[in-house]
Amino acid sequence: MPMELKNVIYEKSEGIAIITINRPDALNALNAETIDEILQCLEDIAKDDNVRAVILTGAGPKAFCAGADIKAMKGMTALDARKLSQMGYKLCKAIENLEKPVIAAINGYALGGGLEVAMACDLRIASEKARMGQTEINIGLIPGWGGTQRLPRLVGKTLAKEMVFTGKMIDAQTAYQRGLVNKVVPPEQLMDAAKEIAKELASKAPVALKLSKMLINHGLETDLDTALVLEREAFGVVASTEDLQEGVSAFLEKRKPVFKGK
Ligand code: CAA
Repeated sequence: MPMELKNVIYEKSEGIAIITINRPDALNALNAETIDEILQCLEDIAKDDNVRAVILTGAGPKAFCAGADIKAMKGMTALDARKLSQMGYKLCKAIENLEKPVIAAINGYALGGGLEVAMACDLRIASEKARMGQTEINIGLIPGWGGTQRLPRLVGKTLAKEMVFTGKMIDAQTAYQRGLVNKVVPPEQLMDAAKEIAKELASKAPVALKLSKMLINHGLETDLDTALVLEREAFGVVASTEDLQEGVSAFLEKRKPVFKGK
């Protein structure tokens, strides 16, 4: 069944899917409908073996995503807020659990829920103009889509507390220095840089990549010995793939490997 997308642009080509949040007039703020549309795209990507890497970005020059839609918060009840938090949780988990790498191309503001969604992605490339913050405190709120947990895991408690307590934004260079983004590029080069990384990831062995993603995401949340058991078991699983034999043969024959995800 074809997807009906109003707030998201969804493209697939050459093994790469691009999801663009397309509400530039609201700085790509996420309402329920938009979250649902991104989830639909992720479901499609999970089923499509041709897609090997994903880019998530925002339309327009100003914002990746300015967070949850504040306009929908007026008069919000506790149950409404709980539902909103559940939706963001579901979106971030869908990105983390997707067995393909997801790159956030942060073209401008990534605030509140926007930063939280970007942090659920595997890699983050930022435009020099990007600004990132957990700004919820400024409207009397707390991060509700994982910011109190994923931010300290990425940048440490010190900066995370400063950002969550003050609501101040940091610029792209600071985000890079503190390990929040992988790379900073001029705005006009952002999508090319994201595509270049996506292409590189799309050329890697898909089973090895998805197991690496699982091991890093889950392993860091458990004790070291359990995580190392998972790694050893996964190492055994990778050894059963045709792609490993292809990689080894290609190395010995001094040629580029062609991986099939088998
Ligand atoms: N929700 C809904 N609309 C938003 C929005 C948001 N999060 N952020 C911006 N907009 C809208 C504005 O209301 C404005 O719409 P109108 O033209 O209809 O008035 C339009 O986008 C442009 O925004 P501004 O005029 O404010 O643009 P600016 O350049 O002056 O300021 C900004 C940019 C600093 C990002 C400012 O828009 C801002 O502070 N936005 C709110 C950011 C924020 O607090 N995000 C957290 C939301 S709560 C959350 O996400 C909770 C959670 O953890 C899930």
